[in-house]
Amino acid sequence: MKTNSAVVEQLSVLLADTYALALKTQNYHWNVTGPEFYSLHKLFEGQYEALHNDVDLLAERIRALDGYAPGSFTEFSQLTNISNAKKGISSKEMLEDLVNSHESLIMQAQKTADTAEEEGDEGTLDIVVGKMEDRQKDVWMLRSSK
Ligand SMILES: [Fe+2]
Repeated sequence: MKTNSAVVEQLSVLLADTYALALKTQNYHWNVTGPEFYSLHKLFEGQYEALHNDVDLLAERIRALDGYAPGSFTEFSQLTNISNAKKGISSKEMLEDLVNSHESLIMQAQKTADTAEEEGDEGTLDIVVGKMEDRQKDVWMLRSSK
């Protein structure tokens, strides 16, 4: 398989965004408080577990394209568009922040899909479109919990 650097570049940002969002969601799983504690604690758990699985899937897709898979806090923080978790915020603010971060990640997935389509990389296109659908479902659940 030929090395596809444009797709690998976009996938690397998507990988970093996915890792950063998994960490933020896990932070909120730990730190959420209030009357909705248990349901949000469980909701965030399901979402960060799914995101952690996607981290592996995306990194291994980069390797299948013969690219280098970034995997350090330094690389991820340089690549990602997702902001760090905020300290001391309410559960409503956590939900709002997670919706915004998911939307940013969905935009990156769309960019990756467009690049994959231009390059005729149907394998990556297929993976990324599936991930967009998963994150849209997350947004629905986060919005409905507000
Ligand atoms: Fe836990």
